[in-house]
Amino acid sequence: MIEKRRNMFFNSAGVFLILLLVASPGILLTQQENEEYESITSNLCVDCHDKSKTDTMIVEDLAGSIHDGFDCQDCHQDKGTMPHKTDPNFTVISDSCKGCHTDAAEEYTTHGQESVDDDPEAPTCVSCHGGHNILPSDDEASMTHPSTVPRTCSNCHENINLTTKYDFLINHPIEIFDTSVHGIATMGGSKEAASCRDCHSTGGSSHKILSPGNSNSTINHFNIPKTCGQCHESEEKEFWEGIHGILVKRGETDSPVCTHCHGEHGIIPPGDPRSRVSSIRLAESTCTPCHESAALSEKYGFRTRRSETYIDSYQA
Ligand code: HEC
Ligand code: HEC
Ligand code: HEC
Ligand code: HEC
Ligand code: HEC
Ligand code: HEC
Ligand code: HEC
Ligand code: HEC
Ligand code: HEC
Repeated sequence: MIEKRRNMFFNSAGVFLILLLVASPGILLTQQENEEYESITSNLCVDCHDKSKTDTMIVEDLAGSIHDGFDCQDCHQDKGTMPHKTDPNFTVISDSCKGCHTDAAEEYTTHGQESVDDDPEAPTCVSCHGGHNILPSDDEASMTHPSTVPRTCSNCHENINLTTKYDFLINHPIEIFDTSVHGIATMGGSKEAASCRDCHSTGGSSHKILSPGNSNSTINHFNIPKTCGQCHESEEKEFWEGIHGILVKRGETDSPVCTHCHGEHGIIPPGDPRSRVSSIRLAESTCTPCHESAALSEKYGFRTRRSETYIDSYQA
């Protein structure tokens, strides 16, 4: 952590140095060519901008945030003159956030399938962390805390226009998650239950949320047992020892992983009669679709209409 702070210090110092170098010839030019631009400092900003778009006091938002004590121009480096100059190449996100947080910027290159730079709908640093009100993720009021991150993701993943545009299979992951055993526990304040971050962060980082088709993704078929096994160690072990796990290890996509039987966002306890793995629904909704499939029977040579026997053997 100390190492990280030190890096950040150097990084921000680096940014200022570069800015100085880049800015000085600009200032000279301005003075020579254009007397109308007057340079201004951060203490003047609030004279004209006291409130944000969402009607909160910018100074108060900043004072309560991790960037408490920063000058407006630490982020709004392009607003150094009155009137403001328009610099089409400058954005707060690419030039300020990424300029200081180089580690996060290097890590955050892909969300879903595509490179984030190629996709205007992909989340930016600000969509997940906020702007003036950024808090560290272990603060309960932070947009990235496990209990609040579902709301942050829902800004886009409960948006029907977006889910249609990208053809996502799951239209309401958050609505469903909220009713699940993990959702109820997380909202109730549990730090142990799974939130979006726990199942979707490849390599433990929410800056690497990848599509299921990517072989490195935590939600790729072959990686799901390990993803759930972070917390359900004994079930993961049993799974790999059973026939389904042996087949998955061998590279079979026909064989089920945890989510085929339990679901993903809507997981509820097996004792709940609505659960797909409750004894009442097991045969009809979980084992039968595969075990009575003609194609699989042919491939693996198992006889159909034997679900009941399978269940007996599985639950024994
Ligand atoms: C004298 C009034 C005045 C001062 C002082 C001033 N601004 Fe502005 N600012 C404006 C006006 C007017 C606009 C809208 C037109 C434009 O972009 O030039 C604006 C636009 C902006 C925007 C873009 C807003 C948006 O909705 O996209 C930002 C960000 C901004 N200013 C930040 C600053 C910062 C940071 C400072 C201090 C260094 C500052 N301003 C000082 C008047 C001011
Ligand atoms: C930690 C970086 C940071 C600091 C410090 C900062 N801002 Fe911002 N500001 C942002 C970001 C990020 C946005 C949103 C940009 C976007 O959505 O593209 C923003 C947006 C704005 C806007 C546009 C209107 C709005 O509310 O979205 C204004 C005006 C503004 N800031 C003024 C200020 C003033 C005045 C200060 C100093 C009191 C300040 N900012 C300090 C990062 C910062
Ligand atoms: C001038 C450099 C600078 C800029 C610009 C900047 N930050 Fe920071 N940021 C820092 C520093 C320094 C810290 C404090 C680090 C610490 O205490 O560990 C920090 C803290 C954070 C944290 C919490 C880190 C933690 O370890 O808890 C997040 C998240 C964050 N910044 C995101 C952003 C985003 C998003 C933007 C753009 C809107 C941004 N920052 C702009 C320097 C900057
Ligand atoms: C899809 C949402 C998302 C995006 C986009 C995103 N972050 Fe994060 N970020 C998170 C979450 C959630 C965490 C908490 C740790 C984790 O789960 O990886 C985090 C952690 C961090 C941290 C470490 C401090 C902490 O609070 O734990 C920093 C610094 C940071 N992000 C900066 C950035 C910057 C800069 C960008 C843009 C280049 C960015 N993030 C983009 C979600 C996001
Ligand atoms: C600003 C909007 C936005 C936010 C916020 C956002 N996402 Fe996304 N997400 C997208 C878009 C757009 C895509 C499709 C990108 C692509 O594939 O190129 C996507 C793709 C995904 C995918 C991959 C889907 C697939 O089939 O490839 C997952 C998983 C995902 N997001 C989870 C999350 C989680 C978890 C969060 C919260 C931490 C989150 N997203 C926050 C817009 C967002
Ligand atoms: C218990 C683990 C788990 C949790 C918690 C979880 N997810 Fe997922 N999620 C998955 C799995 C597994 C898939 C892949 C489903 C598939 O490929 O059939 C997935 C798929 C997705 C997709 C892609 C859907 C598509 O059609 O491509 C999105 C978006 C998504 N999750 C968002 C979220 C959000 C937002 C949260 C938090 C509210 C969340 N997930 C919580 C396991 C989880
Ligand atoms: C970050 C840790 C974590 C991850 C990852 C996780 N779970 Fe859980 N899971 C929990 C916790 C904690 C509970 C108990 C919640 C409660 O009721 O308080 C739970 C409960 C359950 C239950 C109900 C158990 C019962 O007896 O009521 C099932 C089933 C389950 N998880 C399956 C899964 C599957 C399948 C995955 C992967 C797709 C997964 N979990 C991922 C932590 C996790
Ligand atoms: C072929 C279907 C199937 C697969 C695959 C599967 N489970 Fe289960 N799981 C069940 C059934 C049926 C039950 C309820 C009966 C029992 O406890 O054996 C159950 C029970 C559970 C429980 C509750 C245990 C308890 O004591 O209450 C958890 C947690 C769980 N599974 C997690 C997982 C995880 C994690 C994986 C992947 C590594 C997984 N399951 C794979 C069918 C499956
Ligand atoms: C996603 C499809 C799928 C699901 C769901 C599924 N299985 Fe399987 N299962 C397979 C495949 C494929 C095999 C491999 C058959 C072989 O190698 O003989 C298999 C093998 C088995 C075997 C050992 C092979 C045999 O013929 O004796 C048992 C027992 C079994 N499954 C029980 C179950 C039970 C019980 C459930 C429900 C809880 C279930 N399966 C759900 C696909 C599935």
